Amino acid sequence: VPEIGCLSIIVLGASGDLAKKKTFPALFHLYQQGFLQDNDVHIFGYARTKLSDDDLREHIRGYLSHGASKEKREVLSRFLQLIKYVSGTYDHADGFQILNNEISGHEISKDSQPGTSRRLFYLALPPSVYPSVCEMIRRYCMNQSDLGGWTRIVVEKPFGKDLTSAEDLSAQLGQLFDEQQLYRIDHYLGKELVQNLLVLRFANRFFLPLWNRDNIDNIQIVFREDFGTKGRGGYFDEYGIIRDIIQNHLLQVLCLVAMEKPVSLKPEHIRDEKVKVLQSVLPIKLEEVVLGQYDGYKDDPTVADSSNTPTFATVILRIHNERWEGVPFILKAGKALNSRKAEIRVQFKDVPGDIFKSKRQGRNEFVIRLQPSEAMYMKLTVKKPGLEMSTIQSELDLSYGLRYQEIKIPEAYERLILDTIRGDQQHFVRRDELKVAWEIFTPLLHNIDAGQLKTIPYKPGSRGPEEADELLAKAGYVQTHGY
Ligand code: BG6
Repeated sequence: VPEIGCLSIIVLGASGDLAKKKTFPALFHLYQQGFLQDNDVHIFGYARTKLSDDDLREHIRGYLSHGASKEKREVLSRFLQLIKYVSGTYDHADGFQILNNEISGHEISKDSQPGTSRRLFYLALPPSVYPSVCEMIRRYCMNQSDLGGWTRIVVEKPFGKDLTSAEDLSAQLGQLFDEQQLYRIDHYLGKELVQNLLVLRFANRFFLPLWNRDNIDNIQIVFREDFGTKGRGGYFDEYGIIRDIIQNHLLQVLCLVAMEKPVSLKPEHIRDEKVKVLQSVLPIKLEEVVLGQYDGYKDDPTVADSSNTPTFATVILRIHNERWEGVPFILKAGKALNSRKAEIRVQFKDVPGDIFKSKRQGRNEFVIRLQPSEAMYMKLTVKKPGLEMSTIQSELDLSYGLRYQEIKIPEAYERLILDTIRGDQQHFVRRDELKVAWEIFTPLLHNIDAGQLKTIPYKPGSRGPEEADELLAKAGYVQTHGY
């Protein structure tokens, strides 16, 4: 087995928002924890803007939290010294040839045997330039031979705008790289409690017999943000909340909640099951969709006055299989709402022949809070402590902040970049998965784009349009109350 060569991480779009807010901080955390070593790794930033190495370092410094001690400041300085900058366009050879020379120079300086080095390209870029950037990488920046080294490409959503454009993009990238080289990131798959879903479902006897249509009445997967599009109106208005959150993040969560048990934990076995459950989703009914747009959204100068783009949506998906027939999966996402929260709420059916019915109580509900403050809790009915025989809703609560005080929960991006370096594709979206995800939402999206389905205005800081709560109630959700 040849020795593994050095690692180059190339962040394309290095001066942009995603790179400074997510990619570089994630790399820094990996460095702080020893997953990236000084004697092995080099980081290259690439973008169009003309900058010096130091300019880029200063540009990102403020986004890297490092603590106040002298030792910690030194770690940050050492990390920043690993970063070099190359400027160039996204569609011409020149910049990529220079980039390749820089990477090769680094590899030679580290005595990497040709063919053993590892090159990780992170595209923190708008998707419009993916095809040209990938072509340039393919032509000018690949490892020349394969002696255990590799070239991997990380791409961010949006992967297209509908089925046709996504398939075009997949075909273009597919001509340049094998599926094993492409890492389609969906950062929700890097969240702690999303990664916990398979363990929870398949390693606990409690859940095995209950996780089906016989016991579960409805499942909600909810994303809320308490801020609007914050200067991203131009991007957002082209995509809307369904493409931004539901078709990817929430649908990925749905897969893990609803899929059958995989044959093993191999990434391909897991992704096979995700595809199957997506293939079982029935066409969305327009009467099971509510769209909203918050007041003030169109004040953003980059948003057209006539925009019908939803900033809020509730969409019910129905899975046609033995486990889930008749159980609505309610996907709900909104910006500028009353809180910031992402959670899964599994609501169980009423108790048959309930002898406590007259004593006001709610249904059992199992809640997995992805953020903030990761937690899982189960709403149960118990006897209200005291002399009277009355019942009350209470909670069995596993709050991560209390239970795992000594463990720092890693950021999603940190984990996913480490997976890429390790070559583990489990938490990345496979091409066929992406295709079915677009098949599910494309007819609805075309309807919205054609203005056939209107958005309902809602007040910023509210729960969204009331019609969404009505839809929820119609789908069978019963509001339960705790203490
Ligand atoms: C991104 C969306 O994918 O996810 C943003 O483009 C959204 O609009 C963000 O704000 C939310 O991520 P998180 O991890 O903060 O829930």
